[in-house]
Parts: sequence; structure tokens; C-alpha cells
Amino acid sequence: MKRTKIIDLLKTPAFGTVVNVKGWVRTRRGNKTVNFIALNDGSTINNIQIVVDLAKFDENLLKDITTGACLSVDGELVESVGSGQAAEIQAQQIEVLGTCDNTYPLQKKGHSMEFLREVAHLRPRTNTFGAVFRIRHHMAMAIHTFFHEKGFYYFHAPLITASDCEGAGQMFQVTTMNLYDLKKKEDGSIDYSDDFFGRQTSLTVSGQLEGELAATALGAIYTFGPTFRAENSNTPRHLAEFWMIEPEMAFYDLDDLTELEEEFIKYCVRWALDNCADDLAFLNKMVDPGLLERLQSVVNTDFVRLSYTEGIRILEEAQKNGRKFEFPIYWGCDLASEHERYLVEEHFRRPVIMTDYPKEIKAFYMKQNADGKTVQGTDVLFPQIGEIIGGSVREENYDKLMARIDELHIPMKDMWWYLDTRRYGTCPHAGFGLGFERLLLFVTGMQNIRDVIPFPRTPGQAAF
Ligand code: 4AD
Ligand code: MG
Repeated sequence: MKRTKIIDLLKTPAFGTVVNVKGWVRTRRGNKTVNFIALNDGSTINNIQIVVDLAKFDENLLKDITTGACLSVDGELVESVGSGQAAEIQAQQIEVLGTCDNTYPLQKKGHSMEFLREVAHLRPRTNTFGAVFRIRHHMAMAIHTFFHEKGFYYFHAPLITASDCEGAGQMFQVTTMNLYDLKKKEDGSIDYSDDFFGRQTSLTVSGQLEGELAATALGAIYTFGPTFRAENSNTPRHLAEFWMIEPEMAFYDLDDLTELEEEFIKYCVRWALDNCADDLAFLNKMVDPGLLERLQSVVNTDFVRLSYTEGIRILEEAQKNGRKFEFPIYWGCDLASEHERYLVEEHFRRPVIMTDYPKEIKAFYMKQNADGKTVQGTDVLFPQIGEIIGGSVREENYDKLMARIDELHIPMKDMWWYLDTRRYGTCPHAGFGLGFERLLLFVTGMQNIRDVIPFPRTPGQAAF
């Protein structure tokens, strides 16, 4: 018999028909005559209840129906008398596809997130992670749909690169050289001429530079792929491997940019509310009781536009009035997450798009303002998260860009191809990067970024 997914069975139950379902046993309970099995197949957070009249089945088969076992069940779909579900299956035939012994780590409910990270290969079978990973899928669909409908082209930037876009020196090297026997030059530095690419290469920290090339040809593009950062920050907001969405648009100014950032995030959150209702309801109940309200509020409020300079003024004012911060506040400082969250969660109580940062704390490519001190960079700051988006208008003027590159001593000989955009028909353009897992933290209410990506990579952690 053809298998029906549980999500489809529950949508419009055809009572009285005989169906086949396949899935994993979540729980089994009952008495000496009848048992109830909660079966889940991953298509939805909802289980289907299988009613088993024990007298009709072989004892040897029944003893294999344990938590975690995989079953194929044929039976009649009937209206459920018990509360909680509309339909259940009266089992006629049961096949155990895979037994599961009592070393299965997910026997009981209510494991800690820390424990579940140690069994990351099995945690997708829990309700919480099933919900998170289904939402992760839906968010990816939202992102592609949003940009596709706006006429942006999905552009693939390389993962192996010879340039450091953010200039922060946090790259993982890629090499096929024998690390036990490295060839050195006379001055003691490593000779990469024999390496696979004939030069030093790394995993990309951002697809932006290639995205800019594409935007100045296709008009508007976005990348969506993994990026890698070897920053040694063991925080609930940082991964060494994370996914980033980087749109890049020709002819956008700062206002166009911030408008797109706001529209984009709201579209994604609205998509989650529309398409992930069951999973969000579960997370709202079990993980974060403020979740749904927070999602609704973001969709319905205007984000604040705030210059960095004004932000510093507000923070200094708060400090004067007795608010304590761990890190110092002064014009020119890089805002810490506690500062960002003060502005968003306490002062404005809604998302903030901060703009016009001091050039010293931002990347070389950002468009310089006439004041000579600030650049047209934007960060979108979110409740619970802090920075969720970083972006900017790009410096399109060749001479100004070169002057900044010289000032920062960025090795330009490998970047000639990037500079060509400024030599051949340069144009005003802008773009941003959204951290996919930061968006997922917000949408799911999960507390740790390790719990919104299937197999997290963090300092000291690369199992599974
Ligand atoms: O602010 P960032 O460093 O900006 C860029 O990489 C630009 N090239 C983007 C662009 O303009 N095209 O990173 C962008 C976003 C951050 O706002 C944050 O959400 C996320 O990427 N992010 C991280 N997420 C998880 N783990 C990390 N280590 C992250 N570093 C940045
Ligand atoms: Mg940033």
C-alpha cells in the first residue's frame, strides 16, 4: 500500500479508509488489552495515534515496538474519541522496519539543550529540533521567494577565495600542502607556489566582493551560502560556519538599503507566521512563551532609523542616569551587544537600524560621508539578538576607495579584479548580509545559535 504522510492524513482525514503510515515511535502506553502508539514521521510536529488491539498481534512483534523504533502500519483511519487529535489509526497490520534498543538516548522527554548537542546526530528526532529544522527550511524558501519575486538573481559566490572581504583576518586556510614539511622562502615565510592553487587561499568570510561584481552586471543579486570565520568567540551568537544571505543592488542609496532590510526581515517573519504555525505554537509553548507576540510585533512596527552618533548620545545619557554597562561608551567605540540590546529592548522597544558609523570600526569598502569621519554603514539591531544584519552603501569612487585601502594597508595586488568595478562603469550600489542563523534564533526563540543549525561548528567542536 502507498504510504501517506502524517501531515496529509491530518489535514483532511478520510475517515473509514485504510491507510499506510511509516514513522518512528515517540511513546507507547496503554493497558493489557489495548495500546496507544504515538507515531511521528517528521512531516509535521503532530503525531498520529495508532490504536493496537493487543489480542490481534504476535507477542514477539509487540515487544519490538519501543520508543525510537521505526514502524510501518496499515489500518483504518477513524475519528478519535480521545482529546487532542482529530484522527487515529486502528492498526490492522504492523511491520517493525527498525528495532531500537534501550541504549537509545532519547527515551525520556525533557532533555537539556546541552545534552542534545552531544547527540546532535539524533536530536532532529525530538519535537523541538524537528520544529527548528522545518522552520529553517521554510525560512530558506521565504528568502528565495522574496528575492525572486523582486527580480533579484541568485548568484553563487565561491567558497574558496584568496581575498579577505571583511579584512578582519579570521580566515580558515585551505591547503593541500604537507604541514609536517612546509616549503619556506629565504625570509622564512611559507612558499605557497607549490600549493594546490599556487597561492595562499582560505574559506570565504563573505560573498560580497563577488556579489558586487554581479550587481554591477545583473542589477540586483543575492547570494545564499555558507561562510566561515575563525573568530575565537564562544558566544551564543557566533558560529565558525554559518549561512549568510547577501543581496547587492546597483543604484541603491542608504534609504533604499534600509528600506529593503526592513521589508526583507518582515517578509521572512510573516512567512514563518503563515507557514509554520504548528511548529511556532509548539516553540511558543515549550521554549519561549513570548515568541509569537514578539514575531507579531516585529511585523507590525516600524523599525527605528538611528545614526551611530545619536545612539552614542542616548547610551551616554542612560549611563549618566545610572544605567550600568560592562564596556565603555564613547564616540568611536564598537558597540557591544549589551549596548545594542539596551537601545532595542529598553530604549526604543523595537528593531533599530543604525547608520553612519565611524569609519575606523567598519570595513574598507563602505561609502565615506562628506564629514570625513563616518561611513554609510548600517547594522540592523534586534531584540534578543543584537546585530542581525550588517551592510552598507559601497564606496564607488576609485580614488577614495584606493585611499582607504592604502590607509589600512590592505594588500591590493590580489584585489585588482574587485577594483575593476570602480574603473569600468562604476555605479552607486549597496548591499547587506543577513546571518541566517541569527534570523532563525529570532524566529524560533531558541537561546543558542548552536541549536538552530543541524551540525554546529564552534571552537573545539566539529563532531558529527
Ligand atoms: O556584519 P558582517 O560581518 O557583514 C559582512 O560580512 C558583509 N560582507 C555583508 C554585506 O554587506 N554583504 O556579517 C553580516 C551578518 C551579521 O550581521 C550577523 O548576522 C552574521 O552575518 N554573522 C554571524 N553569524 C553567526 N556567526 C558568526 N560568527 C557571524 N558573523 C557575522
Ligand atoms: Mg557586522
